[in-house]
Amino acid sequence: MTTGVERPGTAAAVRTPFDVERVRADFPLLGRSMRGKALVYLDTAASSQKPRHVIDAIHRYYETLNANVHRGVYQLSEEATAAYEWGRAMIARYLGAPSPAEVVFVRGTTEAINLVASTFGRRRVAAGDEVLITAMEHHSNIVPWQMLCEEKGARLRVLPINDRGELLLEELAAFLSRRTKLVSVVHASNSLGTINPIKEIVRQAHARGVPVFVDGAQAAPHGPVDVQDLDCDFYAISGHKMFGPTGIGVLFGKRALLDEMPPYQGGGEMIRSVTFEKTTFAPIPMKFEAGTPNIEGAVGLGAAVDYLHQLDWPAVAAHEADLLAYATAQLGTVPGLRFVGTAEHKAPVISFVLDGVHPHDIGTVLDQEGVAVRTGHHCTQPVMDFFGVPATARASFALYNTRDDVDRLLAGLRQVRKVFA
Ligand SMILES: Cc1ncc(COP(=O)(O)O)c(C=O)c1O
Repeated sequence: MTTGVERPGTAAAVRTPFDVERVRADFPLLGRSMRGKALVYLDTAASSQKPRHVIDAIHRYYETLNANVHRGVYQLSEEATAAYEWGRAMIARYLGAPSPAEVVFVRGTTEAINLVASTFGRRRVAAGDEVLITAMEHHSNIVPWQMLCEEKGARLRVLPINDRGELLLEELAAFLSRRTKLVSVVHASNSLGTINPIKEIVRQAHARGVPVFVDGAQAAPHGPVDVQDLDCDFYAISGHKMFGPTGIGVLFGKRALLDEMPPYQGGGEMIRSVTFEKTTFAPIPMKFEAGTPNIEGAVGLGAAVDYLHQLDWPAVAAHEADLLAYATAQLGTVPGLRFVGTAEHKAPVISFVLDGVHPHDIGTVLDQEGVAVRTGHHCTQPVMDFFGVPATARASFALYNTRDDVDRLLAGLRQVRKVFA
């Protein structure tokens, strides 16, 4: 059976050593100009650009495969189902999940967290219990737990960070109490760049019988994940941040937990049988996928992962580490620039403020120079409060960025300095 979607091993040719110009050529949008200048895209942490491989897969899906999935007895529906399930298998492989059944399609990281809070959380958390998060979480890994705790009369506890934006790991043991029902922690912080020691957090939590949810939204775009090695119980990602389409993401959950959890939403697809008296539910992952799913999204995410699988990841990691080091050194030369987030282990994300210039003004002047960065609180207001700033400017890098991009950012910041002298 053909899915019309290229199979693993058929994406752009294997590239060793890493050739950033060839990678850039795979991303059509990077060829755009902005304000009359070649675009420098430094906002991948908000959303990534898409390789042609993904765009073509979605295009081909609609031209050759479009039908509803898991329903039709006719060939077209079977082919659409195969393409959808191929996407699941691809992402299961990227995450190192033991089985595609443990991979649930959702809208993104936000929905994955809400799903677990509404199902696992509602079932396991009672009055007086605790949910432990950290001081560097994205709002999407704060608010759903806050809502759950309010509903249940439970307590939300927050593991603090230091001035570099690193977790106070030495305090973790004290924060894991007899009442802790779940730890939910970000793998890589979107506003600070900090990469957290997930294995150690999981080890300590599991030693006390506490499951761990990992928000992988900012980690997965920087290389394949191994959920079995991390031994985390849940792992969430957003497709749009890892070169796939918007509106699709994944919740990985260990089978025993997903089996135990009640459904998130009711409707078609997620049932085994329905009468007015009683409904029985489909096995995982279908139990959590009510209604017609985002088929195009699954196909596109599968294609993104197919693309990523072809890359020489140690070389990509070296390239991204070089960009981070080079950008940190270059930006450090700008008078009055202060970094927010200087952890030892960082993803290629640089948040900063400039004395006397509001971050939004930095963003506006940089935009005039064709440089796209994010400014604001990055959905991490508690992080801004901790560092005593209302907002930061954030340059986030990905495999398709270059040292030239850093040079353009630096030139733009010198322009900011001139404008606000
Ligand atoms: C660390 C982190 N967690 C969660 C999210 C939410 O992702 P989404 O909006 O794709 O659901 C983001 C998005 O910026 C993020 O950076």
